[in-house]
Amino acid sequence: MALYSEKVMDHFNNPRNVGIIEDADGIGEVGNAKCGDIMKIYLKIDGDIISDVKFKTFGCGSAIASSSMATELIKGKPLSQALELTNKAVAEALDGLPAHKMHCSVLAEEAIRAAIKDYYDKNGIEYDKILFPDPHGEEEHHFEED
Ligand code: FES
Repeated sequence: MALYSEKVMDHFNNPRNVGIIEDADGIGEVGNAKCGDIMKIYLKIDGDIISDVKFKTFGCGSAIASSSMATELIKGKPLSQALELTNKAVAEALDGLPAHKMHCSVLAEEAIRAAIKDYYDKNGIEYDKILFPDPHGEEEHHFEED
């Protein structure tokens, strides 16, 4: 069996929703300290709906495929649904990732969560802190804009 599914290869070769949203309502940036990969997600939010989403990922093929699939899964969806998106669901939608690449899908889940939290924070919207655990503590990640 090939290491990567056709879907992974497709989303890696033709990633959906790549780019940035200049006037994003929420931006989430996360990184994995071990591999050094960084993912940034931009959300445009209309009412409670994610009307647009874009990503920039400085990372491996699985991270790019995960970002692409994750953006497809949350586009046009309510925030509550996006908050429920797990890395497992992203990996499943890609027809699986090798075990040692599952952490790449975790970045997608975390970046979306971070972008929603950013939106809530910027707009003074109250939320249950339990929804946004900080899995890595305070880590410094910088992502250069073009
Ligand atoms: Fe780190 Fe894929 S190897 S995100």
